[in-house]
Amino acid sequence: MSIPGETAPARTLRSRTLRLGVNIDHVATIRNARGGRHPDPVRAAHQAASAGANGITAHLREDRRHISDADIARLKSELTLPLNLEMAATEEMLGIALRHTPHASCLVPEKREERTTEGGLDVVRGKDHLRRYVEALKSAGIRVSLFIEPDAAAIDASATLGADIVELHTGAYCERALEGDAAGTARELARIGRGAAAAAAAGLEVHAGHGLTLNTVGAIARIPEIVELNIGHFLIGEAIFIGLDSAIRRMRMLIDEARGARD
Ligand code: PXP
Repeated sequence: MSIPGETAPARTLRSRTLRLGVNIDHVATIRNARGGRHPDPVRAAHQAASAGANGITAHLREDRRHISDADIARLKSELTLPLNLEMAATEEMLGIALRHTPHASCLVPEKREERTTEGGLDVVRGKDHLRRYVEALKSAGIRVSLFIEPDAAAIDASATLGADIVELHTGAYCERALEGDAAGTARELARIGRGAAAAAAAGLEVHAGHGLTLNTVGAIARIPEIVELNIGHFLIGEAIFIGLDSAIRRMRMLIDEARGARD
């Protein structure tokens, strides 16, 4: 399927399949609201796999407000899909990553008081701190991703640090879309498009995520350089109404349609 207005080079660049990483953190949020074991995020990960997810993402936060250490151990031992461990750049988290060796680690900024990861990593000012984490993870054979704003300086600094991947923060784009701010949505989308092109040109693999919904995913999926999306909160929320399997299948279908993988 071609996208109206799309240039031939863009069509050539776009790999037809776009990987979907399902973030299961908020299954654990619901479990933890009562304590105990239900609902089990590892069961959700298995269901995500059968619904068409290509990977599972989990954020082990310093305050363990959702995913626990035991969840990470079970995900690593039970899952056949690649595990993407989101983590702050701290000694404690590095030790855990080196113990479990996930397929990838995505370094994210983390503040205790925030409700979710509110912005990208400050790679420019933080590069001396981040260097040791990037190197230690890569030496253990773990692919390293940096969660950044789609800005040229952050992309250059990520490439200089030797990251394998940048995950571009889609939160501002999704917020403008939710507010019905068409000009703001277009501006943020263009910023992500420019960032994706610059990151790919710098040799980085390009992922994107945060706040994506059925309404906002298509435009991001059409950006040719992006090869993976990580989506959580919307899918788990939607699962309340239509079930996790259906929520993931709908997301997968929109991604594939936008990508032209369902002609
Ligand atoms: N990518 C990263 C790096 C994140 O920190 C998060 C949120 O944990 C997501 C993707 C998924 O965001 P959401 O839950 O809003 O879909």
